Amino acid sequence: MDTVAFFDTKPYDKIWFDQLKQQHGIALKYYESRLNCDTAVMANGARAVVAFVADVIDAPTIDMLVSMGVEAVALRSSGYNHVDLKHADGKLRIFRVPAYSPNAVAEHAMALLLCLNRKIHRAYNRVREYNFSLKGLVGFDLKGKTAGVVGAGKIGQAFIDICLGFGMKVLAYDPYPIQRNGVEYVSFHDLCRRSDIVSLHCPLTKDSYHMVNRDTLRMMQTGVVILNTSRGALIDSEALLDAIKTGKVAAAGLDVYEEESDFFYEDVSGDVIQDDKLKLLLATPNVLVTSHQGFLTEEALHEIAKTTLQNLSDHFAGRPSENEVSYTTATV
Ligand code: NAI
Repeated sequence: MDTVAFFDTKPYDKIWFDQLKQQHGIALKYYESRLNCDTAVMANGARAVVAFVADVIDAPTIDMLVSMGVEAVALRSSGYNHVDLKHADGKLRIFRVPAYSPNAVAEHAMALLLCLNRKIHRAYNRVREYNFSLKGLVGFDLKGKTAGVVGAGKIGQAFIDICLGFGMKVLAYDPYPIQRNGVEYVSFHDLCRRSDIVSLHCPLTKDSYHMVNRDTLRMMQTGVVILNTSRGALIDSEALLDAIKTGKVAAAGLDVYEEESDFFYEDVSGDVIQDDKLKLLLATPNVLVTSHQGFLTEEALHEIAKTTLQNLSDHFAGRPSENEVSYTTATV
């Protein structure tokens, strides 16, 4: 039986992987540690590793894995911006789960918007203290408002479906547009100028890094709502905080944060958080931060386990795979 070292294991991972692994004849060794050049040694004896978004798959980690005979990394994510693909080229096969549940992430983006707009997070806390005042809880109708969708791929399209269902107008920006009724493709700058809500659904690449910055925020409408369920570094957090302070941005729903790997998925409630930007975001009532949980539905977890195990089986059988990412084909 082929052995695979499984890094950054969460309790919910085990449930789904244990259910399905027998069908593939794969032995999984679960580790709670994140994969990096110091922990890579735990993969000794394994033919492959399974990794998640906070694992650091840089050149030193890759060299360490390769030196121990590891042949492949199966990512439990669709994003692969945390992998040094150039360095891995020809040494280590990298697989990903290209789509597990676009709806899960799109629905989470809409949940952030609904919660922020109707101040559900504030109302929930208020009524628990028998404060039934409605002061400061006024929202707006989504019907007729304009949603700007940046990156109209699988998740972006699912988010567009939801917005159209709410009777919203939809603008989209994507270098590879998929024409469809009810969606107007525009430039990113036009989208910034015309949208009431800007929702980010594109990958993090060198082109998209800090695409929401001081300049693009200045173009946006006063009172815009920004949603980011994609990758934290799409937004310059300092510029966002300043735009929230001036009222330019009315609300921000963030499932991701540019420095999230130090905090997200961990219980650091007993620590003094050293990241002042994150502290300010968390302390701001019109900002809602969730801990990169957009994917966290039963359907998505089942699909992640199924596809990851299939990717490993394909590798062990020497089969080509559409889910393999390589330096030459990647967009990063
Ligand atoms: P996808 O590959 O189906 O779609 C991405 C779209 O973005 C493509 O249509 C592409 O042409 C477009 N794009 C590329 N560069 C762009 C740019 N600079 N500006 C605008 N559009 C650009 O990917 P999918 O599955 O829709 O995922 C999107 C992103 O969502 C992932 O890259 C990942 O970062 C994030 N994600 C977040 C999760 C969460 O739990 N919060 C879970 C899964 C994915």
